[in-house]
Amino acid sequence: MRIYETKDYDSLSRKAANIIAAKVISNPECVLGLATGSTPIGTYKRLVEMYNDGDLSFKNVKSVNLDEYKSLSPEHDQSYRYFMQTNLFNHVDIKPENTNVPNGLAENAEEECKRYNDVIKSMGGVDIQLLGLGHNGHIGFNEPADYFPLDTHLVDLTESTIKANKRFFASEDEVPRQAFTMGIRTIMQAKSILVIASGKDKAEIVCKAFSGPVTPNVPASILQLHPDVTLVCDKEAMSLLKETGVEIISL
Ligand code: F6R
Repeated sequence: MRIYETKDYDSLSRKAANIIAAKVISNPECVLGLATGSTPIGTYKRLVEMYNDGDLSFKNVKSVNLDEYKSLSPEHDQSYRYFMQTNLFNHVDIKPENTNVPNGLAENAEEECKRYNDVIKSMGGVDIQLLGLGHNGHIGFNEPADYFPLDTHLVDLTESTIKANKRFFASEDEVPRQAFTMGIRTIMQAKSILVIASGKDKAEIVCKAFSGPVTPNVPASILQLHPDVTLVCDKEAMSLLKETGVEIISL
């Protein structure tokens, strides 16, 4: 595992964008696994800048997103499809048919999960998976549990996730209670993984996930077993993991 500490969020975003750009440049037909949430916004902004500068093209790139709220339409301004369109896809040359997000409006959840697993398989798997980290250690919407869910599935969101996400909705009642998410096996099958975390409020979970025991109670802890993980945190998010004495590359 490579661990980078950056001085602030801006520098974290540039580092993460550089890692993704390096993948796209070395393999213009790569499959990007993408995440939503507040942490990757700066990374996507930087990728758009690189595209505008003529340094990067997504023309032959395919993408597959981690998750989507159940019952939100792609046009809903809190759906993850909408997030991806407005933060990245609308601003670069990725082909719309090459972008994939679970269909929040799918009537048959089981069929949608199977369809999404098949999409990922048909692409030959994910080359680099970008991940944010939930305060409770969730990755995608794989919440703490007593087992690791394997493939794409429908989850009931925990109270802590509903509370964390209510800032994006008019009220807590409007936060969807269920979501489609890639499973842990699918995430672990990505050829490489890039985890980003920013801010003091992430320091505890970063430390737990990357230096504590591997347990489904902290879903991100399984990443310790992946052979190609890069963790990029700003100083604040890194503060507690740093105290454990792990080797860190400071930027
Ligand atoms: C988003 C996702 C979530 C977020 C996590 C952190 O697609 O799968 O696991 O990555 O909740 O969110 P932020 O970045 O808002 O702290």
